[in-house]
Amino acid sequence: KDTPVEGPKKVLLAAPRGYCAGVDRAVIAVEKALELYGAPVYVRKQIVHNTHVVSELEKKGAIFVEEVDEVPTGSHIVFSAHGVSPAVVNAAAERGLSAIDATCPLVTKVHREAVRFARDDFEILLIGHEGHEEVEGTAGEAPEHTTLVGSPDEADTITVRDPNKVVWLSQTTLSVDETMETVRRLRARFPNLQDPPSDDICYATQNRQVAIKKVARDSDLVIVVGSANSSNSVRLVEVALEYGAKAAYRVDYANEVKQEWLDGVNTVGVTSGASVPEELVEELLRDLADAGYGDVEQVKTAEEDLLFSLPKELRKDLQGKT
Ligand code: F3S
Repeated sequence: KDTPVEGPKKVLLAAPRGYCAGVDRAVIAVEKALELYGAPVYVRKQIVHNTHVVSELEKKGAIFVEEVDEVPTGSHIVFSAHGVSPAVVNAAAERGLSAIDATCPLVTKVHREAVRFARDDFEILLIGHEGHEEVEGTAGEAPEHTTLVGSPDEADTITVRDPNKVVWLSQTTLSVDETMETVRRLRARFPNLQDPPSDDICYATQNRQVAIKKVARDSDLVIVVGSANSSNSVRLVEVALEYGAKAAYRVDYANEVKQEWLDGVNTVGVTSGASVPEELVEELLRDLADAGYGDVEQVKTAEEDLLFSLPKELRKDLQGKT
């Protein structure tokens, strides 16, 4: 039986963590829209999947809605970082809304791939989670040509129209390892399966997984800051457990950490999902320091310096102002 050994307590802080370029841009887009047009500014769905970010923007005058038909005619509406299907774009235009498209450019890239492969009459095997907004948006580009593959097991059972005319694409925020397993099993059944022209799982998702793998090996406990509906945050918990963390939990806020999680723990690994502001990690580090884990070592596996320019609709109006 494991008896916990008392040793020096420390935190291994994964880097990169937190905000990616797409989230940063989407949050700034809502803030700039509020500055330019005044409150309220409507946002379809959560701008990014983080409880704290959404409530802070609500305080500044953003109103989050599920669908465009909830928005008064003539208002400004921001589309979230996860992207929208052409049907949503059309519905907003028909309602006379001024749309600001905060879709992450790396999601838009996958949409373009879907359009192109559908035009060439491929069947798109879209690896992703059913019901996730990003998947709905991407599938909506070519619904007739898209089949969702939700897990490696589903790869064994789906049926296709023509096994020689299939390509796989994916959601941007999946587990890299699990996706490769799904592709391997698809290819075993459809040897002529075509690959996407470049990775669909984005740089931020990949970098955060690489960093937490390294941290997890040496951690008794891993804490991931992120919301329950944040795909990439939830993946970080799974990856941490696969790569050797004895326990791993996800929290929205530091005050959700339970005292007993720390029982017998010497090393705590810490990371955060791509939609998580750094202040939430700082709060967690403060609480951990109070609990004796004040020694923080950063484990850095990549540099990130990507930045995206603001949505074009905003850039135009910002220029018009100066
Ligand atoms: Fe974009 Fe990846 Fe972030 S798709 S929004 S850079 S998690």
